[in-house]
Amino acid sequence: MRIILCGFGVVAQSFSNLLESRTHDLYSKFGLKPRIVGVFDSKGCAYDETGLDLKKLNKIKKQSGTVRAYDKSIRQISGKDIIENIDADVLIETTASNYKDAEPGMSHIISAMKKKMHVISVNKGPLALAFPSLMELATYNQVMLRFSGTVGGGTPILDYAKNSLRGERILSFQGILNGTTNYILTNMAEGMSFDDALKDAKSKGYVEADESLDLDGLDAAAKLVILANWIMGKKVTMPDIMKKGIRKVSVDDIKNAQKNGSAVKLIASCDKELELTVSPVEIKINDPLCVNGTLNAISFTSEHSGTQTIIGRGAGGIETASAILRDLIDIRKEITKS
Ligand code: HSE
Repeated sequence: MRIILCGFGVVAQSFSNLLESRTHDLYSKFGLKPRIVGVFDSKGCAYDETGLDLKKLNKIKKQSGTVRAYDKSIRQISGKDIIENIDADVLIETTASNYKDAEPGMSHIISAMKKKMHVISVNKGPLALAFPSLMELATYNQVMLRFSGTVGGGTPILDYAKNSLRGERILSFQGILNGTTNYILTNMAEGMSFDDALKDAKSKGYVEADESLDLDGLDAAAKLVILANWIMGKKVTMPDIMKKGIRKVSVDDIKNAQKNGSAVKLIASCDKELELTVSPVEIKINDPLCVNGTLNAISFTSEHSGTQTIIGRGAGGIETASAILRDLIDIRKEITKS
């Protein structure tokens, strides 16, 4: 399978390492022979139709901060030109999420689907702003659009709800979908001020470059959009979510919750009336949803099977790379079926 990688940050590098270290078992178990034929970052590109040398690619990126130096004889072209001119089966979109215009990810995904490439996105921006129309475009072009890594990192939240609960009617769900705010709220529950907890989260590298994405609930809202479309069949985008972040959560709010045997958590919720909200909410300490630190958790309530909670790490390079690999294996399976 020929792959174009858009972006070569932590997740894409982890994915490339994963492919490199799993070459043999991916072929023997899944018949999967992935070849990265094109990659670009903000400073340059590398491409080779016979497949790039992944060890060399990762080494060059570490040394020079870009893939540009992979082979000096490669003519430097734009990401758009790579997508337009290099033949590939799958495009993997890993550039940073933004919720203003979702670019450049949006254009990458649209161009690839028009070229009949399957797409795996870990970039939430395009899905948050245009999930319904991107799905229509995928159907129109008869390609698959997958995005397991956008919600829950490596924790298979979307798979669980879509596949393990197949045949069930999910009535509602609520989840902690942003690890950074969970970490800050956990620290506050242990006595830290908001400012100190934020500083600590920043020092550990948890906070997005644009802190507003975490603190004002945009990241959690983007994940809620994806869940609502994929799991509940709602055709919604970011403006449909009522959202409130954690900036106004005070030490008093946290203490009051503790008096009630609860903790304040930033909860993304789809209730029984299918109202979609992101907001700080008191959750009972003994509720399985009430996880601490950077963990994510989500409880699905279904018509017949009751409530189940899935808990796991919601971010991280190798974790998210493992979700990309799951999508790739799925795509390969679907292709060989037809
Ligand atoms: N900023 C996100 C979080 C990263 O803290 O959960 C994963 O989407």
